[in-house]
Amino acid sequence: MIKKLRKAVLPVAGLGTRFLPATKAMAKEMLPVVDKPLIQYAVEEARAAGIEQFCLVTGRGKTALVEHFDVAFELEATLRDRDKKEALASLSGSHSEPGSITTVRQQTPLGLGHAIWCARAFIGDDPFAILLPDDLVLSDKPCLQQLAEAYYETGGNIVAVTEVPREQTNRYGILKTGSDDGRLVEVTGLVEKPAPKDAPSNLSIIGRYILMPEVLGHLARMERGTGNEVQLTDGMARLIGEQPFHGLRYEGRRFDCGNKIGFLEAQIAFALKRPDLADAVRAFLKNYT
Ligand code: G1P
Repeated sequence: MIKKLRKAVLPVAGLGTRFLPATKAMAKEMLPVVDKPLIQYAVEEARAAGIEQFCLVTGRGKTALVEHFDVAFELEATLRDRDKKEALASLSGSHSEPGSITTVRQQTPLGLGHAIWCARAFIGDDPFAILLPDDLVLSDKPCLQQLAEAYYETGGNIVAVTEVPREQTNRYGILKTGSDDGRLVEVTGLVEKPAPKDAPSNLSIIGRYILMPEVLGHLARMERGTGNEVQLTDGMARLIGEQPFHGLRYEGRRFDCGNKIGFLEAQIAFALKRPDLADAVRAFLKNYT
């Protein structure tokens, strides 16, 4: 029986060094694309996939992420008094069901695998999604929803994948592939950030996963991998052969908002999707050299 997917873990403990000085006193996940912080895109995408419970794996200086999903009583009362309907309505996605967001702390930066392991009590015996808020996907159907549908089809573990240029394999988790129908790929191996010459393919993992709780047993070994960190990719690799494991070529375009170019591209792409901004942005791009 395939268990319903209700839980998501969002690792948000990273320091955001690539966005200093902006992230000196602010969580990088609070950086907005157009007018919405990265963390809210991730939470909204998860909700669309049926996620009801969230665990943020945080660290020091990240309290704004939790505040963001709380009721801002004074702000909302003031907006109501002033009859600012549009501003009030814009807050709706930042509200959350009481009790639906929990946090754990990753006290030491030992890697993504360690961050996920820190959420083990939240995960319990259930399947769970992971969303890395740095990865933003522009698509007709939210990326995690596509992944959840594939999970209900296949059962077992599934990661969102996309082809990258060979010279970029050292930035991502890379798949070794078995059978492949052009959409779903059987995963026969996983390597974290291989050099292009060692990469088993150019199919890379993006920050969307649906995993079975058994991965936690493998992560608990705390084996260090690439970058001397506990890698999620290594923990997942140990599930291959024990449980079904697939990659899904999702429909949509991914923006790596963990680096400046990806972040800037996302601003433009998302602004061009906004009826209130698209014409002005297009006109600016056309005339600006
Ligand atoms: C992490 C994962 C990597 C994955 C990537 C997706 O790397 O370790 O396997 O491909 O996210 O964005 P990071 O970006 O944290 O270096």
